[in-house]
Amino acid sequence: MNVAVLGYGTVGSGVVEVLTKNQDSIDVKAGKEIRIKYILDLRDFPEDPHKDKIIHDFSIISKDTSIGIVVETMGGVHPAYEFVKECLEKGKSVCTSNKELVAKHGAELLSIAKEKKVNFLFEASVGGGIPIIRPLNQSLTADKILEISGILNGTTNYILTKMTQEGLDFHTVLKDAQEKGYAERNPEADIEGYDACRKIAILTSLAYGKQVDYEDIYTEGITGITDLDIKYAKELDASIKIFGMSKITDTGIIAMVAPFLINKAHPLFMVNDVFNGIFVKGNMLGEAMFYGRGAGKLPTASAVVADVVDAAKHEGTTIMTIWSKEKLELAKIDSAKFHRFVRVKDGFHIAGTFGNVQVLKSQAEKERAFLTRPMTEADYQKIASTNDGILSMIRLDFK
Ligand code: NDP
Ligand code: HSE
Repeated sequence: MNVAVLGYGTVGSGVVEVLTKNQDSIDVKAGKEIRIKYILDLRDFPEDPHKDKIIHDFSIISKDTSIGIVVETMGGVHPAYEFVKECLEKGKSVCTSNKELVAKHGAELLSIAKEKKVNFLFEASVGGGIPIIRPLNQSLTADKILEISGILNGTTNYILTKMTQEGLDFHTVLKDAQEKGYAERNPEADIEGYDACRKIAILTSLAYGKQVDYEDIYTEGITGITDLDIKYAKELDASIKIFGMSKITDTGIIAMVAPFLINKAHPLFMVNDVFNGIFVKGNMLGEAMFYGRGAGKLPTASAVVADVVDAAKHEGTTIMTIWSKEKLELAKIDSAKFHRFVRVKDGFHIAGTFGNVQVLKSQAEKERAFLTRPMTEADYQKIASTNDGILSMIRLDFK
């Protein structure tokens, strides 16, 4: 089985490393010899042991009928979408780590794969090296999924962990995460929550079998989190994590991405560094948790190569994945209720605006901080839009 890799960056070079280092055991597990024939990239790699496989012309891969599996690790939607679509249409299976592509075009690409009796697989698109797509598709099919929530982005968890545990500054840690190969090419996707948003869109689409448009998901990143917020979190014996969540509520399925304050009793409290932790709650199973490295070269490559093995094992048949192009309408998050941690300027009329609150010891001059009673998004937004003086708000998920 000949393989072509599109994009020889962090993940693509990891895929080549995994396929080369573990060649013997991979061949046994796939039931056939899996060999890399081409590596497509924009650059040359004159010092690389695989330099003879580097090409710059995609049409060589597309036209070569001996290529059965294509790995897409270039990232971005264009030209990844056009390349992947063409490969599937030509009867080649595709394995990708590209969540932006999967979130936007997953339903269409799956339907082309089905028509052509090949596979479009994307385990690495959510949770890096953690198996979560395959369990959702194959192991949790007896359940009605009630909730999927958790830490879905390695870079931001790494940043928040280092800011909390080592007192490091945001930009220093972001640079470190980029150097370690965790961050997106444009790290705004990580820190503004867009990456977690695409991931929760993919998981929600798979859980309910319909297209969730990520543009419909309420998304907040971590750029508003300050050293002071972290100080308050420590004072509360809590920590700040950015969650992606989707759940069935009385008003329908809601989905959102936002930072949350969680306490020590929370099962995700210990999920630190680049690790991700994802909860899936089924109506029969109850809760299951998936944990592991959410980003990085080799963990992600391991998930991509597992897809390559699966594609090789299923040559000539399509592994069924239910994800139709029909749009899943999400409910508004207005009625979602949370306790909230709020910081306000001195002089803000707290009781008159928020009613009974738990006042916290101030960590800075000229401000006050407190925890509210459970409030809906609609009620909080009404207060926030009609009152000056709110400095920050973080939702609570205390267990
Ligand atoms: P990189 O930027 O490290 O690698 C992408 C590679 O693709 C680069 O070498 C780039 O070349 C090359 N490339 C880009 N466009 C083209 C093109 N048109 N033709 C040929 N080559 C091209 O990204 P990552 O490896 O980090 O990420 C790849 C994908 O995997 C992304 O979708 C990302 O979101 C996803 N992902 C990443 C994870 C991680 O931990 N890094 C984890 C899980 C998923 P050049 O540098 O010259 O532009
Ligand atoms: N930038 C992503 C993250 C890569 O940090 O989680 C893994 O999808």
